[in-house]
Amino acid sequence: MHQPSRHDFHKSLTRKAPGALLRVHSDQTEAEVVQRVQTLLDKIESRTATVGIVGLGYVGLPFAVEKAKVGFKVVGIEQNADRAARVNSGENYIPDVKDHEFKELVSRGFIKAVTDYTSVPEMDVIVICVPTPLTKNLNPDLQFVEHVTKELAKHLRPGQLISLESTTYPGTTHEVMQPILEASGLKVDIDFYLAHSPERVDPGNARYTTKNTNKVVGGVGPNSHKVAVAFYKQTIDHVVPVSSADAAEMVKVFENTFRAVNIALVNELCLLCDRMGMNVWEVLDAAFTKPFGIMPFYPGPGVGGHCIPLDPHYLEWKAREYNFNTRFIALAGEINRSMPRFVREKTHRVLNMLGVAPSRSKILILGVSYKRDLGDWRESPALDVIKLLKEDGADLVYHDPFVPSFDEHGLVMENTPLTDEMLRQVDLVIVTADHTNVDYARVVRLAAHVLDTRNATKKITDHRDKITLL
Ligand SMILES: NC(=O)c1ccc[n+]([C@@H]2O[C@H](COP(=O)([O-])OP(=O)(O)OC[C@H]3O[C@@H](n4cnc5c(N)ncnc54)[C@H](O)[C@@H]3O)[C@@H](O)[C@H]2O)c1
Repeated sequence: MHQPSRHDFHKSLTRKAPGALLRVHSDQTEAEVVQRVQTLLDKIESRTATVGIVGLGYVGLPFAVEKAKVGFKVVGIEQNADRAARVNSGENYIPDVKDHEFKELVSRGFIKAVTDYTSVPEMDVIVICVPTPLTKNLNPDLQFVEHVTKELAKHLRPGQLISLESTTYPGTTHEVMQPILEASGLKVDIDFYLAHSPERVDPGNARYTTKNTNKVVGGVGPNSHKVAVAFYKQTIDHVVPVSSADAAEMVKVFENTFRAVNIALVNELCLLCDRMGMNVWEVLDAAFTKPFGIMPFYPGPGVGGHCIPLDPHYLEWKAREYNFNTRFIALAGEINRSMPRFVREKTHRVLNMLGVAPSRSKILILGVSYKRDLGDWRESPALDVIKLLKEDGADLVYHDPFVPSFDEHGLVMENTPLTDEMLRQVDLVIVTADHTNVDYARVVRLAAHVLDTRNATKKITDHRDKITLL
């Protein structure tokens, strides 16, 4: 019988996957390489694989819970020692995670956290969920991903799958991570496996969670693809395989660009309606009654969070390498970033109508998180509005039931209780986040005037003359 040789294996790979990044490590046979893949598949399918998750934040912690719930042992590597200690004491700090479920998984030994990388060799699959911010010049800042990859490379062993979940530009996994990992002497798709599977979690969304949100997966080579798809299938209802890690990266940045562009479109309509003296909210609500060919997006004081304001710029930056201008991204960014200034302009107009100079005004900002019913104030447009009105000399306080305090580059503020006295005292209330646990009827009744940038007062019929919409 013909025994497979290294030469045959190399030929078969070239034939089956032209252009794929498979290479045969000098002293390994096809059988060894195939066996290594099978060993990992067996561990994944029997759920005896140990899963490492680097970065236990909004993405990493819910993911840890999903994996632990089906029987995987999860070890989180979290550089923030306080967060790691909270994990180990069973204390949840991410709203989408259920406290009792988390506590139980920790107490039963399914989830633990460490602060260093020494336990990496014990892990079979390592998922990276660290931040991918922008520099001041709106360029990708991959320092977290690169740092983690270098640390993993120091401890990498054959048979491990590494999957990047952080949002990034197409090419990061194979152009940036692969060379760092291969500097260990191990080869991708032969010795270890590498994939990208973008996280789509929508914090605060009760209907779509990590488990029932379709998951896109692309591997750097066929073996990586196979093990990564098998891994994600254990916990995600629907896995959507794509041909490469690049494609998976592109899917995610496109999705967020789609949102950014459509939000910019309704923001632009908002600016036009303001000039034409029309109610943009009425127009949009009526437009969205069309049962096909349209999708609801709403204007607001700007975009916030860790995704929509940042991710499109990752694609914009990469496109420049191809001498390509992503004009929609640039325009959407320009319009969305202009919205806090529009709120300031509208505030000045309202104050003028009330006979109050901005520099003598007392204003209550209602809602500082970037999104309804969430405590995340990262990149929140409300903070830009606060900064601009502070420049004008306004006396500002804020109320947000989800944000006890914030410190944004030295802008430090603490939550003010929403008392009757406070509402009566201020010249203007600006609604910048439409949290559902706020009684807007009471706010409108007691306040002198309300500038509503989210249409949170939509259902209120009394005192409409005291409300100005964006
Ligand atoms: N939050 C979201 O809604 C969301 C949704 C989809 C995708 N994403 C993407 O997922 C990634 C993570 O986002 P997030 O919101 O979970 O961030 P996060 O800031 O909530 O969590 C990141 C965690 O990584 C830790 N960390 C940073 N560097 C580390 C290191 N070297 N070693 C170990 N731990 C480290 C941080 O301490 C933090 O706890 C980003 O790329 C983001 O764009 C986020």
